[in-house]
Amino acid sequence: MDLFEYQARDLFAKHGVPVLAGEVIDTPEAAREATEKLGGKSVVKAQVKVGGRGKAGGVKLAQTPDEAVARATDILGMDIKGHTVHKVMIAETAPEILEEYYVSYLLDRTNRTFLAMASVAGGMDIEQVAEETPEKLAKVPVNANEGVTIEKAREIVALAKFPAEVAEKVAEVLVTLWATFIAEDALLVEVNPLAKVANGDVIALDGKVSLDENAEFRQPGHEEFVDHAAANPLEAAAKAKNLNYVKLDGEVGIIGNGAGLVMSTLDVVAYAGENHGGVKPANFLDIGGGASAAVMANGLEIILGDPDVKSVFVNVFGGITACDEVANGIVQALQLLKDKGEEVTKPLVVRLDGNNAELGRKILSDANHPLVQRVDTMDGAADKAAELAAAK
Ligand SMILES: Nc1ncnc2c1ncn2[C@@H]1O[C@H](COP(=O)(O)OP(=O)(O)OP(=O)(O)O)[C@@H](O)[C@H]1O
Ligand SMILES: [Mg+2]
Repeated sequence: MDLFEYQARDLFAKHGVPVLAGEVIDTPEAAREATEKLGGKSVVKAQVKVGGRGKAGGVKLAQTPDEAVARATDILGMDIKGHTVHKVMIAETAPEILEEYYVSYLLDRTNRTFLAMASVAGGMDIEQVAEETPEKLAKVPVNANEGVTIEKAREIVALAKFPAEVAEKVAEVLVTLWATFIAEDALLVEVNPLAKVANGDVIALDGKVSLDENAEFRQPGHEEFVDHAAANPLEAAAKAKNLNYVKLDGEVGIIGNGAGLVMSTLDVVAYAGENHGGVKPANFLDIGGGASAAVMANGLEIILGDPDVKSVFVNVFGGITACDEVANGIVQALQLLKDKGEEVTKPLVVRLDGNNAELGRKILSDANHPLVQRVDTMDGAADKAAELAAAK
């Protein structure tokens, strides 16, 4: 889960990373009081979860409270790379900025470790630095058990060739930033710029944090960061039902058991769709190994509630939960939905294979539901589902 800059700022402050005061607002008029509180000057910063805000005109200095209102008026509602600005942060103005650095920690999946990155060439174009002058970006693996001690931080600072007069201050920031990274179960913490200002202080002027949603269970405080307004309503409904669901932009609803099977189902449907006007999968939904009728009903309810869905492909490989149970689940799910007044009107293609497949297929045939078709191969079923979606 990516955070807004102001949320990252709050987490940095909590763990001792030096930041400036800031207040988030959503009306231009509120910029006045917020700027007055900061002594009459401020920086008005668009809060969107996308980089390059400064270049897009989303970061502006205001010398007076009136000017802050004017800048907030300009920036609120602005579109930055497809993200509408609904909130701005009124930030304290930094003393004169002498240098801009870059520091971050992230989970390095390829090398199965954590990685520290640091550069004295920070500011707005770190991606360009990484691309064109990679020698200016130090990359230092961090052992998960050892973490970033002050000694390790000094090593990073030395490798990145920070000037002597800021070395110790940057090392201290690296230690507090590591504390943020670990305590908050983050996948990424990034400061760009980490600024050296006129009085010699080193301050985080912009922050990016991405939290690991798998750690949600031990981070109850992170619930407040969930952007309910931006969440897809179908994904939110699926989450409330504890389903593993991701909305995609096609027309064929997909239900399967097991993440691997569902992933390959998406591929097979996309491939089959090429012969049917380019229809594509409408979602990822893994109902898991031991899916009961109730879980099947929940899954069908979410998928059938998606107005983009024209047909549904239920792809099940019977394992611990055998195909006869799944088939009963489907039949009961259709009945459950009917009883709830949500009668199914979209065609379902069901492929059952694996444990007790024959019995499962027989149950479906006997139920003889007018909208349910059985196709016994994965490719054949994908093709049928794509054809039905294209015909709608
Ligand atoms: N509080 C502040 N006081 C003075 N100058 C600031 C302040 N915040 C940002 N700046 C200046 O504005 C520049 C851009 O700000 P910031 O890094 O927050 O946005 P950005 O890098 O454009 O956005 P993103 O990180 O989303 O790409 C900074 O490099 C810094 O020079
Ligand atoms: Mg920045």
